[in-house]
Amino acid sequence: MGLKQIDHGSSEYIQMVQLRKQILRAPLGLSFTEEELADEKKNILIAAYDDDVMLGCCMLCPVDRQTVRLRQMAVQGNLQGKGIGASIMYFAENLARDKGYERVVMHARDSAVGFYEKLGYKVIGEGFMEVNLPHHLMVKEL
Ligand SMILES: CC(C)(COP(=O)(O)OP(=O)(O)OC[C@H]1O[C@@H](n2cnc3c(N)ncnc32)[C@H](O)[C@@H]1OP(=O)(O)O)[C@@H](O)C(=O)NCCC(=O)NCCS
Repeated sequence: MGLKQIDHGSSEYIQMVQLRKQILRAPLGLSFTEEELADEKKNILIAAYDDDVMLGCCMLCPVDRQTVRLRQMAVQGNLQGKGIGASIMYFAENLARDKGYERVVMHARDSAVGFYEKLGYKVIGEGFMEVNLPHHLMVKEL
């Protein structure tokens, strides 16, 4: 498996959007708007590959000079639970550190809170609803 940063608008980005639609949005009956996708140009886009097959992905969205927000973390359904998500997270955190960020925050789905806790993230505050699912704010100091 290889991990890399990918470019907005590239063929790899199209693959990424497909994976995110399949894993994160279609099960909720949702998709992405053109505006949402255009706005992702400013983000750090990350994917795990086996040859030209995308195994998983995530993105880091700059919040301020110290902070990035992790979003759209997804691993192919038949490949979950094999360590791919953790590898993507370590790669994303190292990339964030290299770029001078000191903190990762996220709105974690409650179903994934245990995954992030294993990686050292802490829940902050009360839960809230987003895309019709319960979420918690989570934070890790890098
Ligand atoms: C959540 C997700 C990204 C995790 O990636 P993954 O490749 O399946 O996870 P890994 O195999 O790297 O798991 C790492 C560790 O976390 C644990 N873990 C994985 N998913 C978990 C979950 N949902 N809840 C609790 N623990 C979890 C694993 O058991 C493993 O533990 P171990 O180190 O003791 O063996 C992936 O399952 C996924 O895409 N889920 C659907 C989409 C989603 O919920 N995305 C997150 C939105 S916030």
